[in-house]
Amino acid sequence: MSVSVVVGAQWGDEAKGKVVDLLAKDARYVVRYAGGSNAGHTVCVNGATYKFHLIPSGILHPQATAVIADGVVMDLRAFVAEADALQVQGVDLSRLRIGLGVHLTMPYHRLLDELEESQLEGRIGTTKRGIGPTYADKAWRIGVRVADLLDRDRFAQRVWRVLQRRNPTIQRVYNATPINADALIAEFEPYAERVRPYACDVPHLLMDAAERGEPILLEGAQGTLLDLDYGTYPYVTSSHPVAAGACLGTGIAPNRLREIWGVAKAYTTRVGEGPFPTELTDETGDRIRNRGREYGTTTGRARRVGWLDLVALRYAARVNGFTALAVTLLDVLSGFDALKVCVAYRLDGTITRDFIADAPTLARCEPVYETLPGWREEIGDCRTLDELPPNARAYLQFIEQYVGAPIRLVSVGAGREQTIWV
Ligand code: IMP
Repeated sequence: MSVSVVVGAQWGDEAKGKVVDLLAKDARYVVRYAGGSNAGHTVCVNGATYKFHLIPSGILHPQATAVIADGVVMDLRAFVAEADALQVQGVDLSRLRIGLGVHLTMPYHRLLDELEESQLEGRIGTTKRGIGPTYADKAWRIGVRVADLLDRDRFAQRVWRVLQRRNPTIQRVYNATPINADALIAEFEPYAERVRPYACDVPHLLMDAAERGEPILLEGAQGTLLDLDYGTYPYVTSSHPVAAGACLGTGIAPNRLREIWGVAKAYTTRVGEGPFPTELTDETGDRIRNRGREYGTTTGRARRVGWLDLVALRYAARVNGFTALAVTLLDVLSGFDALKVCVAYRLDGTITRDFIADAPTLARCEPVYETLPGWREEIGDCRTLDELPPNARAYLQFIEQYVGAPIRLVSVGAGREQTIWV
């Protein structure tokens, strides 16, 4: 394994949690590298369901150290709630590490995200978890980090400084109640002791482990098409879910990445606003949504659903350099007579196979479909490619050929065992 990274190949929610859980059994470190509690991973093991927003799901594997690396932003209230819930379920958190450089998502970040999203114009459809404002403060060099939290005076100074800038915006731009710095500092001081046992210099931890050749699994959140630079801006998240983001977020050098797994659903979903060429707003879409239980882990929102967009997937394969593909939720597509896959876009009378990340232009693209025969059988019990109906195999082959990366894993249900290794 050496260093492997698992990246969402679409607009997030590709069931990366399950793929990470499967790959984590061989990992010594499982590392979250970007995003925050906007992410939601569900892992089902022996009938128990575990929900993760910040803590890497690799914590379920006793040999693995789970790491929240410096590229992540962390909401302490959300962290404590998640840690408590996992501990009640019997999960041992002593193998958790949190980077000193992790930026904290503070209540004013959540408030600003909510206030901005409540405006009628320019809404992104964010998760309202304060992610954008946290990364904005990071870029503005007024963010508060885990290292600050652990030093009482420094923490208080940082919070005062940032609120001097943020409170006038809260008050004057949004007409909302400013945040009381003293009350916030008093509430957050005890969190320092919750975080201290886990805090460490993550870049050195991981660089040393990589040099020793220990297997490291880097766990992406969100997906390529939500990347701040390579996604459909402005309808994107504020971090870098792509494979290159894994290096930025952890300190691991790019030449150490050996396996780059792209995880894609057998169809497409999107949450929030933004263009989505293959979206289905009809009964077919409802059917896929219901079969796939396409409701957000973090927000409960119904996901938008559509046919598989191979133009977008090929783009993701090129941006990330996928060495392996995991196709998930293939079982959801059982029962259709025919399945459409988008193989090109039509834009102003021309046909293109290149994804168009510019949101207003993508919104004008019409999908060009190829229709493939479906299959009737339920496939949740299949454990090898040969056990799949021939049309399901042909569907996978079509994806592989178009995208140009080998499918090495197919998921046919939520359970760990409902997996076909190729
Ligand atoms: P934010 O990350 O909360 O700022 O939201 C920005 C965009 O990313 C919105 O369209 C969200 O719906 C989307 N998004 C953020 N996190 C996830 C995720 O884990 N899955 C799917 N979409 C997400």
